[in-house]
Amino acid sequence: MLFTIKVYFYKSLMSILKVLIKFIPQPAPLLYIGENSALALAKQIPMLGKRKVLIVTDKILNELGVANDICQVLDQHGVEYVIFDGVRPDPVDTIVHQGAQILLQQSCDSILGLGGGSSLDAAKMIAALGSHPGKTVKQLAGILKFKRKGVPLFLVPTTAGTGSEVTAAAVITSNENYEKMLVVDPKMMAISAAIDPVIMQGMPAKVTAETGIDALTHAIEAYISGHSTPTTDGNAIAAIKLIFSNLEKCYLDGNNLNAREAVALGSTYAGLAFSHANVGYVHAIAHQLGSAYQVPHGLANALVLPHVLDYSEPACRTHFARLAAEIGLSTLGKTEHQISLDFIASVRTLIQQLNIPTTLDKLETKDIELLACKALKEAHYLYPVPRYLDKRTCQKIISNLIVKRVC
Ligand SMILES: NC(=O)c1ccc[n+]([C@@H]2O[C@H](COP(=O)([O-])OP(=O)(O)OC[C@H]3O[C@@H](n4cnc5c(N)ncnc54)[C@H](O)[C@@H]3O)[C@@H](O)[C@H]2O)c1
Ligand SMILES: [Fe+2]
Repeated sequence: MLFTIKVYFYKSLMSILKVLIKFIPQPAPLLYIGENSALALAKQIPMLGKRKVLIVTDKILNELGVANDICQVLDQHGVEYVIFDGVRPDPVDTIVHQGAQILLQQSCDSILGLGGGSSLDAAKMIAALGSHPGKTVKQLAGILKFKRKGVPLFLVPTTAGTGSEVTAAAVITSNENYEKMLVVDPKMMAISAAIDPVIMQGMPAKVTAETGIDALTHAIEAYISGHSTPTTDGNAIAAIKLIFSNLEKCYLDGNNLNAREAVALGSTYAGLAFSHANVGYVHAIAHQLGSAYQVPHGLANALVLPHVLDYSEPACRTHFARLAAEIGLSTLGKTEHQISLDFIASVRTLIQQLNIPTTLDKLETKDIELLACKALKEAHYLYPVPRYLDKRTCQKIISNLIVKRVC
């Protein structure tokens, strides 16, 4: 009874949000797409009158020389640059503050984020702090807290997963309690982004697999969201098709540029879909696993995704059956229920083909109740999920990830 009342409250809250979202502007960056498009983007920077760029990236990518060709183009066009490579996976606020200090000390007039979602999110927040002097990430965290647009921002993703290059959101971890802070504001949108498969060529197979499943999760959660629209559905379906037909190819051969470009585009489409329709329980639970055990974001999603789909199936049968048809599964002579289950089975098969584990060593039974409470708190005030979960069922979903030890 109490759960029914709570669900009624959450649904009402999501209906109000659905109306409010319509009044929030949805800017999108100019997209450069294809091989060496990152270099075309670099040429745009001086054309916009920018003279000194802060390149925000991480140490691994800097040491791999991923920025070299971009720096060469900037040199050729007389643009100065400073490289800040202090970003770590799931960036903490103190690193963002360091980056913002360098931006001001070096008098940079623009920022180029180069990396996975961690570097792009850090770059977005450094740009925001650059135009809000004296503020901290914590003070800007939440929804629509920005007073003005950030420092002009250009983004080049090196993973195909988060879609951060087209979203008005950043996820920054608190250095105090390791909780993830969500920052959402259209004023953080980049001027342009490059979807360049060449820059993703060196991505390790494990990162390719896990980030690809992050993108798939964005698309599926957006498609079954209560805030979906015909436009977000179109983007989500395009993403799901591209990822299903190309992710395993990229995983097996990182130099397959056609497959890399297809998955990268899929990730961008998924970003466009979830930036309006939002995500759901998979992300709510995955964020807690990331905070508690530093599990990479894509892996955390891959662990949780099939179990949340199982639970959501009765409310999403028609949606899953449509997705099954879109990815080319046979539907002839089958009931909608069977086709829907086939779709979930093909998600499990893809995860298995990518050799992603299905259990989490670090997860302990004693932690599950708190993880479930935090996940539900995040989901119920933010995400328009298709079928609501109570605490006990959420705990059950998380307990599927416990390693079964034989005594
Ligand atoms: N802003 C958004 O809309 C949004 C959406 C989803 C996730 N996120 C956030 O994004 C972060 C995760 O980003 P991610 O999954 O892209 O991973 P990441 O940026 O944390 O990178 C993971 C690892 O892969 C390496 N790497 C990245 N690209 C590489 C390449 N081309 N070659 C070799 N190594 C490479 C990085 O150096 C790093 O060690 C999380 O903090 C998550 O919360 C943000
Ligand atoms: Fe994600």
